Parts: sequence; C-alpha cells; structure tokens
Amino acid sequence: MIILKNEIDLAGIKEASKIASGSLRLAKRLIRKGISAKYINDEIVDYIISKGGRPSFLGYKTDNKVYRYGTCVSINEEVVHGLPLKNKILIPPMLVKIDVGVEFDGYHSDTAWTFVLGEVSDRVLLLLKATKEALYNAIDMCKKGKRVSDITYAIYDTVKRYGFEPAKGVTGHGVGLELHEDPVIFNHPDDVDSDAIIKSGMALAIEPMINMGTADVKTARNGWAIVTKDRKWSAHYEHTVYIHDDGPEILTEDIDG
Ligand code: MF3
Ligand code: CO
Ligand code: CO
Repeated sequence: MIILKNEIDLAGIKEASKIASGSLRLAKRLIRKGISAKYINDEIVDYIISKGGRPSFLGYKTDNKVYRYGTCVSINEEVVHGLPLKNKILIPPMLVKIDVGVEFDGYHSDTAWTFVLGEVSDRVLLLLKATKEALYNAIDMCKKGKRVSDITYAIYDTVKRYGFEPAKGVTGHGVGLELHEDPVIFNHPDDVDSDAIIKSGMALAIEPMINMGTADVKTARNGWAIVTKDRKWSAHYEHTVYIHDDGPEILTEDIDG
C-alpha cells in the first residue's frame, strides 16, 4: 500500500532529511586513510542523536535478521548493506559508500553517497559520473502521471550509455512514515514485476546502485553485505524526494555541491 504524505508529513521528512544530509557531510570530512568504518558509523550515530534524531537502520528487521548498526558502510565491490566494522579499514584507492537513514519525530529520510579515497582510474570516475547522472535523470521522472518503471528505465538507459549496468535485485522505495514503504523501485528492468502510477504526495527514496562489471550480485558470508559476483566495483547515490503537483522536490542534499 502506498502512503501519500501531506504538507505536515513533508515538514517532518524534511527535518529528518537535514539530519541525514548532515551525517553524509560529516562522513565526507572524516574519510581518510587508516580510519575504520566503525569510527565513521559511531561519529554519525552520535551526530544523529545530538540533533534529536534516531538512526533508522538500527534494529531494522528484514528476512528474520536484525540490523545492529546505525549506518551502512560499503566499500568497492560491496553494492549495499556493508557492515561498519572495526576491521574494515580505509585504504586507498577505495570507494566508500555511506548510507544513512534518520528518524525524526516519527518521520524517516534515507540518503547515500559515494566517496573516493585516493587515486582511482578514469573508468571508476566515469562510474561515479554515470551513477549520479542516473540519480538525477531518475528524479526527473518523479512527476505525477509517470510510472515507477519510468524511474527504472531512466536509471538503466543513463548508465548503459556509459557501458555500465544497474545491480540486479536491489531497489529504491517509498519512505516517510517507515524507512521502507511501497512502492518498490527496481534499478534493473529485468526485475520489474509491478508498476504503480506516480502521484503527488508520494515520498520516494531513489537509489541507483551501478556496477562496473556484471549486474549480478550475491550476499556475503556475513549475511548482510550485497557484493558484485565478479568483485568489480559498484557506486551508490540516494536522495529522498517528495512529489508535488508541479514536480519533484529533492529533500536530501548533494554532498559534492
Ligand atoms: N540500504 C538500505 C536503503 O537505502 C537500507 C539499509 S537497511 C539496513 O534503503 F538494515 F540494512 F540497514
Ligand atoms: Co539508504
Ligand atoms: Co533506501
């Protein structure tokens, strides 16, 4: 069931979004050689709590598993749900993808960003450019009367032009009263099995996860991290977006800008 949000809800999701974006800006300042993913996680959790929020991921339940951390820190071939562990040390060259959900006053926001540590190849830089372009092209489709699959195809068509492919089996989603709401927003067209019409009042988390090599992924031994099957690198950007009568409003911030 898709929950439409009113102006009061929008104000709450905006507050949560400010804290979520502040968390990513903090992460950007912290990221450097030698620190652990746990350190980044702990600093972000402290920040969220200092702002009166709660990390939405902490205690999140899915498939009979409970997530025990406040953020996801995914590196290189980890597509999403990388664990922020003490022994995950940042060593250049590396892609560091930070994903943060914040609950504030009962409202959720969700945002993720990819950070580059050290010198990476031009092809990796192109992956980041393509993934970000896919995010903004997808958001351009967030207009009433469009379909959720228009988002999927905007992502797919954008990255295919660069020779990349969205990861299969991972999705964006509705967001706001819960971290994950309907609709499911597939990144890869092969996954599409439902297609809602976009309406004003929807709040959506748009999150292209784009692979340099194969679109196929598998779950890591820790049961959480989703990794590319060929171990080639992957990028991830995510914004929380609200759909007004006259089009989308991006509630989270561009951390490169
Ligand atoms: N990566 C997911 C998203 O952006 C949320 C992670 S849920 C967790 O929607 F439990 F793994 F943290
Ligand atoms: Co997220
Ligand atoms: Co999300």
